Amino acid sequence: MNNTIIVTGGAGFIGANFVLAWVKLGLGTVVNLDKLTYAGNLENLQEVQHNPQHIFVHGDIADKALMANLLAEYRPCAVVNFAAESHVDRSIHGPEDFIQTNVVGTFHLLESVRAYWNGLGAEEKSVFRFLHVSTDEVYGSLGKDDAPFTEHHPYAPNSPYSASKAASDHLVRAYHHTYKLPTLTTNCSNNYGPHHFPEKLIPLIIHNALKGQPLPIYGNGQQIRDWLYVEDHCAAIRRVLADGRPGEVYNIGGWNEKPNLEVVKTLCRILDAKQPRKDGQSYVNQITFVTDRPGHDQRYAIDASKLANELGWRPQETFETGIEKTVDWYLAHQNWVDNVTSGEYRNWVATHYTERGEELA
Ligand code: NAD
Ligand code: DAU
Repeated sequence: MNNTIIVTGGAGFIGANFVLAWVKLGLGTVVNLDKLTYAGNLENLQEVQHNPQHIFVHGDIADKALMANLLAEYRPCAVVNFAAESHVDRSIHGPEDFIQTNVVGTFHLLESVRAYWNGLGAEEKSVFRFLHVSTDEVYGSLGKDDAPFTEHHPYAPNSPYSASKAASDHLVRAYHHTYKLPTLTTNCSNNYGPHHFPEKLIPLIIHNALKGQPLPIYGNGQQIRDWLYVEDHCAAIRRVLADGRPGEVYNIGGWNEKPNLEVVKTLCRILDAKQPRKDGQSYVNQITFVTDRPGHDQRYAIDASKLANELGWRPQETFETGIEKTVDWYLAHQNWVDNVTSGEYRNWVATHYTERGEELA
């Protein structure tokens, strides 16, 4: 075994940020397995396209034969599972893909990893880790005055997405409890930052504002999310992977609770300063209240003190610094946004990865 890791879902938003940082930090080789659903975008990985420390493999976490081959070939010391269907609204319109990837896919991945781990020697077995990246949404919704979610908060998922993630968390827990697989689970709050697919609130608002389109606020806009800059999430995962205790769960959050309407108004103010509308009016005028999301969770908030106290992690960005960096990234990467919104990014495989043709077929 060496210091190679396998990352799943590393062409998506958080996975790509994780892979880019891992390679930049020189932490070892990353084998990146991604199915390239609509959310997977190889353009996110352009920086490491020619870096031998990054090996992209097109495939499904549910494909046990493929996983067995990858595990046997690369002999990783860890598997980090980001792969998932991740958008709540899509899960309301069509839950099936969520069950398939988040539940069945995670189950098959666990089975593949268990078989690999069982075949390792004693020392390799003791260092190996399976880290499952999950969400605060599994805990359900908080009232205004409730304490933030700790790792002991009961599970109460409210959307097909969060129910499917909850199921996957339970499977991971069971594989540790029953088979002693050295698992780690992280439950994180809302991320934002570069490469965020513009179906999610923050990148959608930036995109629509610049295009002169309505800025849709679900319901009254008073729902609260706890925002964390994506690079801080990736740093937390690295801490947990390095020093987390097998079988444990770590909550990750930004101590940045904000109502949605406030987030949108902040984005409008930053855009007003950085790229004012031609008519001199504020982007705030584009705000439009629309029908609420069915079953919309009112408030999420994370108590990340276990991670802070045990592993010394704290976020580096405040919401103010992180959101400004994010707007700057989107303003500087309008081509990325145009490629995503036009669907052109899907041609990226053909135009930029032809030399890895056999892996992407
Ligand atoms: P994303 O939708 O941007 O990316 C998901 C990636 O997984 C895509 O590249 C997609 O192609 C890939 N994928 C989907 N199904 C697959 C399969 N069957 N096999 C292999 N690859 C597959 O998601 P994200 O926002 O980057 O989230 C990553 C993980 O983090 C998810 O597990 C999500 O539940 C969790 N999470 C997300 C947030 C957030 O705010 N975005 C917060 C907490 C936790
Ligand atoms: O909490 C972690 C979760 O955060 C992750 O597990 C999910 O993968 C991720 O998508 C995110 O889920 P949310 O549903 O909180 O994120 P989204 O960006 O879709 O919405 C954020 C809030 O903004 C939510 O209260 C719904 C609201 N919203 C969203 C959109 C897309 C709007 O008001 N208007 C919109 O157009």
